[in-house]
Amino acid sequence: MRIFSGIQPTGRKHLGNYLGAIRGYVEGQERGEGIYCIVDLHALTAGPDPNELRRSVYDTAAILIAAGLDPERCILFRQSDVREHTELCWLLCNVASFGELSRMTQFKEKSEQHRQFVSSGLFFYPVLQAADILAYQTDEVPVGEDQKQHIELTREIAQRFNSRFGQTFALPVHRIPPVGARIMDLQDPRKRMSTTASTEQGAVYILDDAAIIRRKFKGAVTDSGKEIVRGADKPGISNLIDIAAAARGVPPEAIEKEFADAAGYGSFKEAVGEAVVELLRPVRERYEQIRPDEEAVDALLSRGADKARAIASPTVAVAREQMGIGPVRPR
Ligand code: AMP
Ligand code: TRP
Repeated sequence: MRIFSGIQPTGRKHLGNYLGAIRGYVEGQERGEGIYCIVDLHALTAGPDPNELRRSVYDTAAILIAAGLDPERCILFRQSDVREHTELCWLLCNVASFGELSRMTQFKEKSEQHRQFVSSGLFFYPVLQAADILAYQTDEVPVGEDQKQHIELTREIAQRFNSRFGQTFALPVHRIPPVGARIMDLQDPRKRMSTTASTEQGAVYILDDAAIIRRKFKGAVTDSGKEIVRGADKPGISNLIDIAAAARGVPPEAIEKEFADAAGYGSFKEAVGEAVVELLRPVRERYEQIRPDEEAVDALLSRGADKARAIASPTVAVAREQMGIGPVRPR
């Protein structure tokens, strides 16, 4: 079982990233061969400051290790260190259509936001993501709900490539957690919690300290009524129930039951805040120890890249050959 996922280095990582994805990476490392990539090349599409981009890779690596990724048991690396990804991306661009890339929700949303300058990198973003996944003969991709469409496109591209050029790529499936796949903003629970769209109070960051986390939950927007049950007309409470369930590792029904007699939303919000404080505390503590030693992080990413390259390069070589790239007699 090969498990692969990618995470962007830029932007502060939040509770949605943790519950929707990072926890799934750690679990993947137990279930199979986990390969995790910090996608600095994808981050370029948001036009980051170069020094910030470079540093953010260390921040993200430290968060992932603090969350439980063990570089002895999985492969953790920087995307740009393995050039095979960009080469395969170009090959796959010729198998992905302009129409299907234009229909990607993330592209449509981001190109609306950026308006003044929509880079073509943003357009090709999903093809690079497909290359990331397909280069490793991936079986499963742990991601949050918002990435489902990109994984489906990846399958589509793989299938088309295989039928046109011969069997080359495995067909991956997405693995989306049953609870926590779509954590909503605490201030506007109709919006996904996100680094770019959430306000400071609306997002809980993995590195927030306990007092800040408690304050954010206390101020979370709830709905009218006072029952602690999920429902389409109760996005605020539904989100808090999901967060509590995911943080404690129980089904949402168990949370509804536990708080059936609660006097109101106040004590419930406190309890959810406390569950998240306990969940994130060890991550933040380990992060403080790991982050300062950049040399150690570098060494580990570069070992990860060597292992990743050894896996990706034979598949990319086959893809090249199938498409007719290279000399008649391969050197
Ligand atoms: P990113 O930081 O955009 O690279 O996202 C990393 C991972 O976090 C991806 O697998 C996303 O699907 C996941 N993710 C991002 N936002 C949320 C959210 N609000 N709830 C659940 N998962 C999320
Ligand atoms: N697009 C993903 C996100 O924004 C990040 C990503 C890049 C990724 N390559 C990937 C996720 C490969 C899964 C597999 O979250």
